[in-house]
Amino acid sequence: MAQPLIDLRLCADGAELARTAAEEFSRRAGLAIGARERFAVALSGGSTPRRLFALLAARDEPFRDRIDWRAVHLFWGDERHVPPDHPESNFRMTRETLLDAVPIPAANIHRIRGEEPDAARAAALYEDELRAFFLGDDPRFDLVLLGLGPDAHTASLFPGSDAVRERERWVVAPWVEKLATFRITLTPAALNRAAAVIFLVQGEEKAAALHAVFEGGRDGERDPDRWPAQVIRPENGEVVWLVDRAAASGLEKRSGS
Ligand code: 6PG
Repeated sequence: MAQPLIDLRLCADGAELARTAAEEFSRRAGLAIGARERFAVALSGGSTPRRLFALLAARDEPFRDRIDWRAVHLFWGDERHVPPDHPESNFRMTRETLLDAVPIPAANIHRIRGEEPDAARAAALYEDELRAFFLGDDPRFDLVLLGLGPDAHTASLFPGSDAVRERERWVVAPWVEKLATFRITLTPAALNRAAAVIFLVQGEEKAAALHAVFEGGRDGERDPDRWPAQVIRPENGEVVWLVDRAAASGLEKRSGS
């Protein structure tokens, strides 16, 4: 089967990556709101999105006022199994960098309840919320933001996890052995319904993972169990990779070889 075209945009550094992402985010928000009067976006967690969120929130930048926040619905691609005020919480990171600074209605913030003692129940509750929002059986986010771990995980789809192969449920709560914790994560069943996915990948520590995701192992094989980000292939949507030079170094070496 022909390899899908990869839309990879090389950014000089983290600052350019964040700005490019902010341009994409605000452009796509305008298109979605113009067409359907709403923009449903699933945010990534971790540290990479912080600069993007700060740009979107900044009063001295054009993005904040370009976006009709009343029509934006924010979801998360994954969450840690912690309360929303915990330092590890993806929601807390987003609240601090974005939510406290933009006029988004509280009802439009669809938080994963990481504080729920039973992570599986948190996942089930979130799936209920998604089904209620999407009115049925098609969780078609206008945009999904994803990161990439050094082990090529994305969202909380980690190597060797059953969650990587989940095709029915939209949200699951895998035990992540290497982190000794549960996570709550959207699955490929939900993520691959998106109209657009943008990966944000920054830093030298991601170079090997990015190379593996694009090139596979020595024989170029695809193996999402080893490199979970490979499972992200929207059936009817686009994938854009925003990558800084440091993260792309493995690719550049190969392309230059
Ligand atoms: C999380 C994320 C995770 C993240 C990658 C990259 O909850 O941590 O959703 O998938 O995107 O681990 O994280 P950094 O941006 O911190 O490198």
